[in-house]
Amino acid sequence: MKTVITYGTYDLLHEGHLRLLKRAKALGDYLIVGVTSDDYDKTRGKINNKQSLIERMAAVKATGLADKIIVEEYEGQKIDDIKRFGVDIFTVGSDWKGKFDYLQQYCQVIYLPRTEGISSSQLRAEENNLLIGIVGQTSFWWKFVNECHFVNGIHFGGIYTQKENFTALQKQAFDKNIDIPFLTDDLESFLNKVDAVYIISKPAQHYNEIRMALLAHKHVLCESPISESVQQTKELVELAKQQGCILMEAIKTAYATAYERVLLVAQSGRIGRIISIDATCTSLNTRWRNADFELSSQWNSIEAWGPTVMLPVFQLLGSDYNQRSIVSQYVDKNKQYDGYTKINFIYPHATATVQVAKAAKSEGELVITGEKGYIYVPAPWWKTAYFEVRYENPQDNLRYFYQLDGEGIRYEVVAFVRSIETKKNGTYIDEKVSLAISKIIEECKEHKDVVEI
Ligand code: CTP
Repeated sequence: MKTVITYGTYDLLHEGHLRLLKRAKALGDYLIVGVTSDDYDKTRGKINNKQSLIERMAAVKATGLADKIIVEEYEGQKIDDIKRFGVDIFTVGSDWKGKFDYLQQYCQVIYLPRTEGISSSQLRAEENNLLIGIVGQTSFWWKFVNECHFVNGIHFGGIYTQKENFTALQKQAFDKNIDIPFLTDDLESFLNKVDAVYIISKPAQHYNEIRMALLAHKHVLCESPISESVQQTKELVELAKQQGCILMEAIKTAYATAYERVLLVAQSGRIGRIISIDATCTSLNTRWRNADFELSSQWNSIEAWGPTVMLPVFQLLGSDYNQRSIVSQYVDKNKQYDGYTKINFIYPHATATVQVAKAAKSEGELVITGEKGYIYVPAPWWKTAYFEVRYENPQDNLRYFYQLDGEGIRYEVVAFVRSIETKKNGTYIDEKVSLAISKIIEECKEHKDVVEI
């Protein structure tokens, strides 16, 4: 009996897959099909899958061509499988030509011609063709445009910003080799052109911009905070629901696999009950010392870092703290620009301390203290691909590694597109967390019970 093995993702099973499976089956008597797990696909940069592993396996089963279906979960598994199942022939489509020649020492390797004109990526892109525009400007707007290339079904539609930003923007676009299809300082005409917006303007502008976008029935992905007032955030969340639009808070850390797993491990009881969370985010910027540096156009420390640093606290301990204290140091007389802020939260059975700075430097780590052990996420924890669970006895320590591509931005955009498609707010940051973030930002801005140092 000749055993044949083949592997693939088989998302939205199509004619190309069917033809490959039929020809693979015809190569022998017994066909084993390896279907990639969701996690393994993520490590291969395949982040757009529409269907879950179970759905994809069911689709392969329904073809009636596979005698055995297995899950492919790790790098190098093919060698293990070939030995374990006594495989005679390994086969895949010709798009992989040469890539699996190393398997020739274990079995015969055959590349079958790929069916032209069809792919899962193409099907996913056809299902959705969203045009997304950027509202506002920061020095990293181009990162978002580049990251959109990795997401099926979304395209960059242009930028709305103030006229005085045009020259700098166009220069940056030239340097980064990006074509801006539409550039305007008229928000209304901009909203007519796009299906969705990504807002990166200063937080003080968010409320008006989000409101206008939602009233124009556009979906919104907005850099956190949604607004600088709890009341306004509440209003916008309600408006999005009324309009049947997605309003998603953008904090890229929330979508990084390692961060998601930190939350799950913390909640799983592995470190026991959580007693304390300590998180720090800093990025030292000394330009504020220059006389010509315009502070009002800058995100201050709490605006720039507050949402990220508070995220694990509100996601793990909730937002019903009993007490909070805020200490800030300002770099300007008007107290608009906090160079450093530390916040302590006291919950009935836990506590948290977060610190942010743009005019001071510290270790950007996250530590979650539990009754049995602690989770340590090294700096810069907000874009980590690695963390450790540590115990009294170091021999019990566990290390976790994940893939992080594009600082998490592409995963965030995938989640946004999926939310629009399913018409469900699939955001990983729930409403309560958004409101809790807005509340603290508002209190900092209004200097409400803020101790100045
Ligand atoms: N395949 C094929 N012809 C196609 C598409 C896929 O022969 N038009 C083959 C691949 O070469 C592979 C198997 O089907 O051996 C599974 O491919 P998979 O990566 O799941 O499908 P794609 O459509 O290529 O997926 P994507 O667009 O996400 O890369």
